[in-house]
Amino acid sequence: MTHRIFNFSAGPAVLPVEVLEEARDNLLSLGPLGMGIMEISHRSKPFEDILHEAQDNLRRLLSLENDQRVLFLAGGATLQFSMVPMNLLDGRGADYVVTGEWSKKALAEARRLGSVHIAASTESEQFRRIPRNDELRLSEDPAYVHTTSNNTIYGTQWHWEPETAGRLLVCDMSSDFLSRPIDVARYGIIYAGAQKNAGPAGVTLVIVRDGREGLFQKPRPDLPILLSYKTHLDNDSLYNTPPVFAIYVVHLCLRWLLRRGGLAAMAEHNQKKAAPIYAAIDAAPDFYRGHAHKASRSLMNITFRLPTPELDEKFVKEAKAQGMDGLKGHRSVGGIRASVYNAFPIEGAHALASFMAEFLRKNG
Ligand SMILES: Cc1ncc(COP(=O)(O)O)c(C=O)c1O
Repeated sequence: MTHRIFNFSAGPAVLPVEVLEEARDNLLSLGPLGMGIMEISHRSKPFEDILHEAQDNLRRLLSLENDQRVLFLAGGATLQFSMVPMNLLDGRGADYVVTGEWSKKALAEARRLGSVHIAASTESEQFRRIPRNDELRLSEDPAYVHTTSNNTIYGTQWHWEPETAGRLLVCDMSSDFLSRPIDVARYGIIYAGAQKNAGPAGVTLVIVRDGREGLFQKPRPDLPILLSYKTHLDNDSLYNTPPVFAIYVVHLCLRWLLRRGGLAAMAEHNQKKAAPIYAAIDAAPDFYRGHAHKASRSLMNITFRLPTPELDEKFVKEAKAQGMDGLKGHRSVGGIRASVYNAFPIEGAHALASFMAEFLRKNG
């Protein structure tokens, strides 16, 4: 087998080896078809079968409700920052819970299109934590409330469902989608770029409700056709050519998740992976300075700093020499970030924890 190192990249990120092998094996011919997935029509039966199985598997994994529909869209999670307010703002404003750079970007897009209210923000605390439900100051009648379930850059994660008292909840789940079970009943829209937990870059998974009276049924007349959820709902994600290869790999990842026992099993696995790394931080808190408050720690992106930027750099360089790549923190915050998404192997988490102990011994 090709030599693979431990890839801690925050996204695009490590994919299951089984999935990569299966995609490779089908590249020239999808099963007995004699044509590869990238060479067939998105309206052909083999592709439609893939699309529908992926939708069904996602429904099973998340236990989606009847009126929740699965869309596969292009444009990344970033386009959802715009599509959400374009489709949902109806003269009323929207509430945003600001927990990091991505929620700030989502907020900025909504602000361009209508009035926004910040229901809570932890920016003054360097986004070290998620606000408690009793800190949320929701407005009377917002069109929706927007949250970000996992903050990829700061390494914080909601470990409880946001309490929005019946208001439509929209959540950017890009960096912890399918990493654990969620209470889907609470959500009006869920969206996630696939490139962390669900597949390769190029497709965004969007779960919307189309059963509610009026929701999406009357898009504003100036809304470009491709930016309307109704277009994609009416055409089952096939209004135009979708990112077929990315959808195919997502489909393989969903099958892999089911084989692995679904989201509860994945959540347990993810906890076991994050534990040794957080334990290494907690064993030397003056040396490995964790960014997130303990109650808000992300199981996907583990962020910390060493006493000096020079030591951060040395850490990243030496880890890389030992087969651990992608540990440099996001350019906006620096430090170290270890991303340990679903497909990241537990051996890699133990390898990093051992490396941390050794690095401390030599440099602490
Ligand atoms: C939480 C979150 N939201 C949104 C984005 C932006 O996603 P995309 O690059 O798919 O537009 C990212 C990317 O890392 C992210 O982590």
